[in-house]
Amino acid sequence: MGRPLESKVLDARRYLAQGFLYNGAEMTHYPAIRKSLARRLPDGLILLSGGNPVPRNHDVDFVFRQKSDFLYLTGVEEPGCFLLIDPKRGREALFLPRIDNHHRVWLGDVPGPREARKLYGVAEAHYCDELPRVLKDNLGGYRKLYADGDAAKRAATKKLKVAAAELRDALDELRICKTPGELDLMRRAGEISSKAHKEVMRRTRPGMYEYQIQAIFEAECLKAGLKHLGYPSIVAAGRNGAVLHYHANNAQLKNGEFLLIDAGAECKGYSADITRTFPANGKFTQRQRDIYGVVLHAQKSCIERARPGIISADLHLHSMTVIAEGLKNLGILKGETSGLVEGGAVRLFYPHGLTHTLGLDVHDTLGGRKRRLPNPTKVPVRFVARLEPGFVVTMEPGVYFIEALLKDPELRRKHRGSVDFEKAEKFLDLGGVRIEDDVAVQRKGPPLNLTSVPKEIAEIEAACER
Ligand code: GLY
Ligand code: MN
Ligand code: MN
Repeated sequence: MGRPLESKVLDARRYLAQGFLYNGAEMTHYPAIRKSLARRLPDGLILLSGGNPVPRNHDVDFVFRQKSDFLYLTGVEEPGCFLLIDPKRGREALFLPRIDNHHRVWLGDVPGPREARKLYGVAEAHYCDELPRVLKDNLGGYRKLYADGDAAKRAATKKLKVAAAELRDALDELRICKTPGELDLMRRAGEISSKAHKEVMRRTRPGMYEYQIQAIFEAECLKAGLKHLGYPSIVAAGRNGAVLHYHANNAQLKNGEFLLIDAGAECKGYSADITRTFPANGKFTQRQRDIYGVVLHAQKSCIERARPGIISADLHLHSMTVIAEGLKNLGILKGETSGLVEGGAVRLFYPHGLTHTLGLDVHDTLGGRKRRLPNPTKVPVRFVARLEPGFVVTMEPGVYFIEALLKDPELRRKHRGSVDFEKAEKFLDLGGVRIEDDVAVQRKGPPLNLTSVPKEIAEIEAACER
């Protein structure tokens, strides 16, 4: 039995209005983003495809997550849609799958064009099977079709030259600078993920398994309405903390060990990416304090410097310098700091980048070809750009004791004058320390920190409540 259409729309609106996810600007920033894209690509039709479910086996699909570009422009989380923008005429249309009763029986209803216009704030909405006709009506005056691969296939027109690279570039250029509406969503992802991290600190105990701690984090996010994570949670006890993208999450956490947890949830596709490292029993040992203090100092010093104009790779260089100094003070590294950084000795303990962009992808767009700079450092980092207001980036230095590096005969030979390997090996059981916050670069002053999880030693000990 179908309910009247109007009441479904009202239900959907009530749902949208009551959830904190949608409490204001969030559903209204999409039209402005579509206009920005149209302004950048005024000489062609723009056609984007949404994602489709990927089969896992037989009649079961993997959990569907909308393509990031499509989420960026529409906020639509349903699969099987298209978006058409006609910049000259200022028209835009959303295309939705025409579902049948089989779909309704097994998967439920999805919004049709009438509901979609209201729900998503698009002027026009049609079924996908109307796309060829609507496209034909809009061809007049255009020679170019800015389309992604799937959309170009669907349009199947020989009259328009497909310009996929220009579309990619325009989207990358836009996506890297977050609008206030996007920042609201990122703030929300940061708040809820931060709350979940605090809950992990409060409830973690020696003897728990990593997956039980993962469950605390993920349950908190789910309870708050964030159903998707930005990436697989890394929950690493002791030595596992030295595996940068550890994912087994099945070891038991022992008394005296560190727990490193790197986890973040998505709000309307916008991800948080937060790491904290804290003692299983809630009290730092002196060794833990020493290593943690080095990383914390590097992280705070980099956040303070994350301002417009600074090149991300220079910030990374700065973090390596602070970490090299810190490890020198602990007697693990020796020699001139500049030599430790340039010669690569510090990279035995800090083998990843300081920062990456964050947004609809956890490792987000790099900002388009125009923003890409030559890397001024010898460190092979992916993100090299001048920071601008509206960028959201992570700040995530770390120090790790990685057996594969510390016991590598060639590396030992190469760095024997710079590293006290005997001393470093004594820290192998400590694993690693990473501290990761998400920050939004502001026009003036230091960035806005979207992460609010304790990171000072005294704050962590208080939050652990053992
Ligand atoms: N969570 C992956 C990263 O920090 O880049
Ligand atoms: Mn990160
Ligand atoms: Mn992370």
